[in-house]
Amino acid sequence: KKLKNTILVIFGITGDLSKRKLLPALYNLERAGLLPEGFRIVGVSRKGTEPRDIIRMLKQSEAGKQADCPDICEKLEKILSIVDMKLDEGDTYAGLSRELSRIEAEAGRPLNRLFYLAIPASLFPKVTERLAEADLNMHENGICESRYLIEKPFGADLASAKKLISDLNERFGEERIFRIDHYLAKETVQNILSFRFSNPLFNGAWNNRHISHIMVTASESIGIEGRTAFYEGMGAMRDLVQSHLLQLLALATMEKPKTMEAAEIHREKEKILAAIRPPEPERMKEETVRAQYRTYRKETGIADSLTETYAAVRLSIDTPEWKGVPMFIRTGKALKEKVTEITVVFTEGGAESLTSARADAAGAEIKRNYLTLRIQPNEGIAVDLDIKKPGLDEATQAVQLDFCYRDAPGFEQIDAYARVLYDGMRGDRTLFATGDEVLACWRITEPVLRAWDSPDFPLHFYDNGSAGPEAADELIQKTGIAWFTDSHQVCTPPK
Ligand code: BG6
Repeated sequence: KKLKNTILVIFGITGDLSKRKLLPALYNLERAGLLPEGFRIVGVSRKGTEPRDIIRMLKQSEAGKQADCPDICEKLEKILSIVDMKLDEGDTYAGLSRELSRIEAEAGRPLNRLFYLAIPASLFPKVTERLAEADLNMHENGICESRYLIEKPFGADLASAKKLISDLNERFGEERIFRIDHYLAKETVQNILSFRFSNPLFNGAWNNRHISHIMVTASESIGIEGRTAFYEGMGAMRDLVQSHLLQLLALATMEKPKTMEAAEIHREKEKILAAIRPPEPERMKEETVRAQYRTYRKETGIADSLTETYAAVRLSIDTPEWKGVPMFIRTGKALKEKVTEITVVFTEGGAESLTSARADAAGAEIKRNYLTLRIQPNEGIAVDLDIKKPGLDEATQAVQLDFCYRDAPGFEQIDAYARVLYDGMRGDRTLFATGDEVLACWRITEPVLRAWDSPDFPLHFYDNGSAGPEAADELIQKTGIAWFTDSHQVCTPPK
C-alpha cells in the first residue's frame, strides 16, 4: 500500500499515551525517513498548549534524549499545530475544521486525514458523535480519505462493545476504522504466521496429534503506575487477555489464510476466535485464577478492591485440529520480570525415553520438545530438544536451537506504535483488529468475568516481584504439566 500525504490529528496530545508512545513513535518515523513529504500534525488540546510544550514532553522521553533530537525535534515542532477545543462542545469542532482546511489550502490539495483518538474510553461516544456532526470526513474518490485510529478498551463487556462498534460503524464505516492492538504491530508477533506457514517441519506438526498444549504468558514487572482511574474495575482480564493475548492465541492457532492479504488473515482469525471456548461454568474455579498484587489496595487507596492484577485461564478450541489440546493464558502486573512469550509444547516422546532433561510438575521425567516464540524482551524463536551428550556418556541432554533478533544483521526494531501510525497512513488494515474479532474476544472472556463477579469467587494475593499466585501453578499442574519457569531462557544476552 502506498503512503499518502496525511494530516495526523491527535486527540489527547498532552495525555499519557501521547507522551509515552505517540510522540516517540513520530520521532522514530521522522528519523527513519518514513513520514511522507508535507506530513502535518494537528494536536487537539483544551489547555491552551503550544507546540513547544508538546516538544518539551517529547524531549523528556527516551527518544528525546537521543543525540539527533535537536534536529528532529525542531522539524516536528515546525509541522505541528495545536487547536484548542472542548471535546464535548460541538461548536468548537469548527476550529478544527478551519485548521484542516488551512493546511490543505497551503498544500494546494486535499490530504488524507488520520484522526487518532488517544482519549479515555468514556469520551469516545461524545467525541465521535461530534466529529461525525462536524463532517470532517474528507473523502474524495481515490484522492484522499479520512481514517480513525481508535485505542482500546473497545467496550467493557460484550453488550457495550457491540454498541460501540455499531455506533462507530454507523458514523464512519468499518473500512475507515482502525482498531489498534499494538501487540499485533510488534515485530515478533508479525513473525508468528510467517514462521508457522513457511516451515513445513512445524506447520505439518501443528495439530493435536503433535502438540500437547500451548501457553501464552505476558508477565509485567511494573504495577499500575498511578493509573488507578484506568485500571480499577478494568483488571487484567479486560486489559490484556480480552485483547492482546487472545489475539496472540488466535495467531498461534488459526488456519493458513488463502493469501497474506488483510481480509484473508482476518477471515481465518475470526474463524478460530469463534471456536475458542472458555471453561464450562461449573469448572470456572478449577480453570481460571484471579489475583491481586499485595500492595494494590494500598497504592490505589481502594481498601476493598476486587480488581485482578493477575489472570490465568485454561481455554479449549472446538476444531478437529485442536480438540483435546488445552490452551493456557496468564498475565500479571508487579511480577518478577517482563516477559511475553508463546510456548508450544509438543507431545511426549515414547516410553523408551532414555533420561530426561526436564521433569514435569510431579517430578517425573518426560521428553518433550518446546518451541518458544519470545515476543519481548530478548526477542527470538527457540526450539528445545534433546541430544545425546557428546562424548562417552550415553545420557541425553537438553539443547536449544535459536534465532535471536539481536543477531540479525542490520536489524533495527520498528517500534509498535510507529508501525501503527505508518500503517494507518497507508491504510493497511492487516495489523488492526476487526469489529468481529473484538466481539469474539468478548464472547470468550465474558463468562469468566461473570463467574468472577460472584461474591464467593476467590481472589488470590501474590507478593510484588514474585512469579504470581500459587493458584496459577495449581491450575496448570492439574493437567500434569507446569508453566515454563524463570529458568527457561531464550536469547538472553551474554553477560
Ligand atoms: C496496554 C495495557 O495495552 O499494554 C497496559 O493497557 C500494559 O496495562 C501494556 O502495561 C503492555 O504493553 P507492552 O507493549 O509494554 O507489553
